Amino acid sequence: MRKNNSFAVLGDICYAVAADDLKTVPHAYAVCENGLCAGVFKALPDRFSDIEVIDMSGRLITPGFADLHLHAPQYSYRGTGMDLELLEWLDSITFPEEARYADPEYAQKAYGLFVDDLRRSPTTRASVFATVHTDATLVLMNMLKSSGMGAYVGKVNMDRNSPDVYRETTEESVKETCRWLKACETAGFLADDSIVRPIITPRFVPSCTDELMRELGKIVEKDKLPVQSHLSENISEVEWVKQLEPEAKGYADAYDRYGLFGTESQTVMAHCIYLRDDEIDLMSQRGVFAAHSPQSNMNLRSGIAPMRKLLEKGVKCGLASDLAGGSSINMFKAVTDAIQVSKLYWRLTDETKAPLSFTESFYLATKGGGSFFGNVGSFEEGYEFDLLAIDDGMAKTSLEFEIEQRLERTMYLGHAGFIKAKFVAGRRIL
Ligand code: GUN
Ligand code: FE
Repeated sequence: MRKNNSFAVLGDICYAVAADDLKTVPHAYAVCENGLCAGVFKALPDRFSDIEVIDMSGRLITPGFADLHLHAPQYSYRGTGMDLELLEWLDSITFPEEARYADPEYAQKAYGLFVDDLRRSPTTRASVFATVHTDATLVLMNMLKSSGMGAYVGKVNMDRNSPDVYRETTEESVKETCRWLKACETAGFLADDSIVRPIITPRFVPSCTDELMRELGKIVEKDKLPVQSHLSENISEVEWVKQLEPEAKGYADAYDRYGLFGTESQTVMAHCIYLRDDEIDLMSQRGVFAAHSPQSNMNLRSGIAPMRKLLEKGVKCGLASDLAGGSSINMFKAVTDAIQVSKLYWRLTDETKAPLSFTESFYLATKGGGSFFGNVGSFEEGYEFDLLAIDDGMAKTSLEFEIEQRLERTMYLGHAGFIKAKFVAGRRIL
């Protein structure tokens, strides 16, 4: 009997099952059964003998990449304004541009460009900040859904220290969050099988009053929704948080006091550069993910996250573009940027903290960050079938390489244009 919901992709397969374990299988079949991976096989087992085979022979086959933190409305100005530090950059560039998304027509146009580019990129799952605007956030969610991308999307909350054109009152922020969640329910974004889902998104402590965070914590507790925010990115920001929240034990506690730090639901915090040891321990205990955004940390002169230390302490970690602090949406770049900044950290800051290896960084960009979205980022049996077929032969060379070297070279050369097919949860979207 022909299995209509099954197919295989044939090619040179590589995937990480652990930070130090990269599997490579030349000329093999990755089998998809009802949206899930049924395994990787050198020869198709009898039970799959009559399924469709998508022949990508000679191409690299990898899991999809997880971008654990990016800002959709910042796509339009990526690669500009890169001479500024975080707080100045937010005030002079970010907030005025995000304010434009009050206009649904502008949102439609700008988000259309973003989603089209994301669909062509190595990313199959993303945790996305929208803006404070409920309607524009729904526009983005619908576009992502139509594109087939997997995503958590957050209507941003901010009720202090923001320009008048881009601030909500506490009451508005809570009310609009409830309206947005209601609309999400009606549109099916809360259904168990929805691949685009809402995530509660207090922008960062300087943008959110205690009262707002308390109310968001109640929503998270009631609806068990995931949470995303920023944590300890920049020295001036960390100092500012101390002044704004003198009662909190630190930046992490400013969220934790309101149930926004992994007690109630899955949480991801971007950056995590200037954390105290007890805050790192808390992240580890609570299973809070760190979204490491090396390109953004370089562009905004923020610093270098202590990734080796976070990993040694058992913090769940993934990689992120942090568009448009990061100028590139391409997660191949994030893999090599993470390695490169870890080498500088080792050389300039702490020689006991070994740089990330290539396998570790590839793992973080696939299975590490992917685990925020469930069983995502590997070809182990039962994982969601997120797959890229990459024509690395487009980068000419006179040499012959093993699969692992081809993968490394693909990340360093960084051409997303080499991607010839892309599947998300078993659906082909490119
Ligand atoms: N902290 C608060 N908002 C932002 C933002 O938009 N980008 C970055 N990189 N950090 C932030
Ligand atoms: Fe960010």
